[in-house]
Amino acid sequence: MAILLPGGAGYIGSHTAIELLEAGKEIVIIDNFSNSNPRVLESIKKITGKDFKFYEIDYMHKEKLQKVFEENTIESVINFAGFKAVGESVQKPIEYYRNNISGALVLLDTMRKYGCKKFIFSSSATVYGEPERIPLTEDCKTGGTTNPYGTTKLFIEQILKDIYTSDNTWDICILRYFNPVGAHKSGRIGEEPQGIPNNLMPYIVRVASGQLKELSIFGDDYDTPDGTGVRDYIHVVDLAKGHLKALEKINKEGKGLYIYNLGTGTGYSVLDMVKAFEKTTGKKVNYKIAPRRLGDIATCYADPKKAKEELGWEATKTLEDMCQDSWNYMANQEYLT
Ligand code: UFG
Repeated sequence: MAILLPGGAGYIGSHTAIELLEAGKEIVIIDNFSNSNPRVLESIKKITGKDFKFYEIDYMHKEKLQKVFEENTIESVINFAGFKAVGESVQKPIEYYRNNISGALVLLDTMRKYGCKKFIFSSSATVYGEPERIPLTEDCKTGGTTNPYGTTKLFIEQILKDIYTSDNTWDICILRYFNPVGAHKSGRIGEEPQGIPNNLMPYIVRVASGQLKELSIFGDDYDTPDGTGVRDYIHVVDLAKGHLKALEKINKEGKGLYIYNLGTGTGYSVLDMVKAFEKTTGKKVNYKIAPRRLGDIATCYADPKKAKEELGWEATKTLEDMCQDSWNYMANQEYLT
């Protein structure tokens, strides 16, 4: 009985794969390396000392996906195979809707065909749009997403709700990630954005390493304590552990559709992040204040109480861990090259 991880070679997928293997679970990874590197698979094996089956396929390819279900007994699926770059999604809406939504439909249809009805979905705090209130609880209104990427998450959540309504023998868990950062403590796997990063932490790391000149802080006139945007940064290993708890929940509780925020419950501003990074790593992060970025909100952080009460999960890593581990990964890459 194996857990299938489409997109398991990616940033969050690979960290979750490690946690699953270390918990003694059997996994099967499928990935087409559209936003990941084959090297990651070897790193997962080195870190855990464990082996797993891998298929280099696109999860949208129905016949190839069916073969995976024919050749393995898949009991549950955690879907990481989504495109996730906000800016790119604005330029390439068809690609985003096709990969994220059509891909999810092929996957869910195939699962149904093989009687596999346990599904964990990587959603995002982006589904809350402009927050109804802070901290965000799972019952806050959703909608009003400002880019196709966010809209794919919103639509897939709706699709999952409709599937569950039509057939309540499914077990579905929707995990709304806040802002994942950091890397595995080994320094062997981490986030590898292609080209110039859009997200804050990968950008900070590249300024600190000298690859990029300076960070542009997008706006210092928000209604926040220091005027810069506030977010709920969560260590990717904490996030990965949340998936194990979600799996336990749907295996134990039986039928249901569950939604959880995976965040720390603490908001940090862009300037907080810069200062924490400098203090933790001793590296300088040059920055300038730039205009606000279109579509950004002032403040976004989670109320993580529901996940704590119902999953027994909470984030334990500190802001220093997030900064140090992000930096270690980068420093390790430089050392390796
Ligand atoms: N920021 C900068 N300069 C940069 C990059 C970011 O000032 O170069 C600021 C942003 O304005 C924002 C904060 O840093 O205030 C965080 O920005 P990110 O791009 O790292 O993250 P976002 O909160 O915009 O978006 C992230 C993910 C989305 C996800 C969302 C969920 O990228 O996929 O969190 O809340 F949907």
